[in-house]
Amino acid sequence: MNNILLVGCGNLGKIVLDGLLLENKKVYLLEKNKNITQKINHKNCIIIKKIEDQVLEKISIILLCVKPNQTKEILTKFHKKTKNKVFVSFVAGMQISSISSCLKNKKQKIIRIMPNIFIQFNKSSSAIFSKNLTSNEKYKFEELFSFFGYFVWLKNENDFDYFTAMFGGGPAYFLYIMSCFNEISKKNKIKEKDSINLLVKLLEGTCEILKKHPKNLNLFINKVTSKGGTTEEAMKILKEKKIIFNKFNTALKNAKNKSIILAKSFKFNI
Ligand SMILES: NC(=O)c1ccc[n+]([C@@H]2O[C@H](COP(=O)([O-])OP(=O)(O)OC[C@H]3O[C@@H](n4cnc5c(N)ncnc54)[C@H](OP(=O)(O)O)[C@@H]3O)[C@@H](O)[C@H]2O)c1
Repeated sequence: MNNILLVGCGNLGKIVLDGLLLENKKVYLLEKNKNITQKINHKNCIIIKKIEDQVLEKISIILLCVKPNQTKEILTKFHKKTKNKVFVSFVAGMQISSISSCLKNKKQKIIRIMPNIFIQFNKSSSAIFSKNLTSNEKYKFEELFSFFGYFVWLKNENDFDYFTAMFGGGPAYFLYIMSCFNEISKKNKIKEKDSINLLVKLLEGTCEILKKHPKNLNLFINKVTSKGGTTEEAMKILKEKKIIFNKFNTALKNAKNKSIILAKSFKFNI
């Protein structure tokens, strides 16, 4: 996979572009918003105004970073010109069948990827699903986008719905929990600045345990929860009738169902 065409350089596209340029890749960029393109000045980024054959000849991979309702219009411009190229769609909820149908090519090589906002720190939990790619092409893709963070290849495209609910929304859930702790700490006379710094350390320490001992989470919970101690009192409330677990379970179920509904609304056949 050599030269790349990026379509759309908004919130996500810009992060992807920066990552690729840092990796010394040559990127052709198609972005209709002049306010965005005016700010881009990099020797390896070539801004184009439309999809021309001479550009298509030079690229092997096309990244789609536009909103779902903008995708169909773009795809129709590629008709039959992209046989051996790999399309990579970041478009949340859009199924591969809709993309290949729009391109009028069932054999089109397509990758669908769902990252989250932590892509900007190279720490995205991303899901990928592909159609018509060889193992070697998949391997090359992982290499090229290793700056995203951690990948899982999904076996079934429908698994994106849970992934979107859990890892797309995940940053908001963790930040919500942190904001609850922050509020409670402030009520207990800890200054806002200290509270945030203390919570960051708490999270960083928790991440270290998760990374070093991924299979022993309960062991560490028990280590902190000494018999007859204060944490035990708190844990009794947190585990009561599995209320917290059940709330998370319902929240994710609802988010997953919403993802299914949205995906249906983005489906199109040509
Ligand atoms: N943001 C995230 O964290 C995230 C995470 C996972 C997946 N996604 C998916 O990534 C996609 C992009 O999201 P985003 O937040 O980056 O959207 P965005 O900020 O709206 O970026 C899309 C950009 O593409 C431009 N564009 C639209 N149609 C175009 C065309 N025909 N030719 C050239 N440029 C065109 C838009 O210009 P105008 O503004 O002028 O229309 C805009 O600058 C979405 O499908 C979303 O579902 C995003």
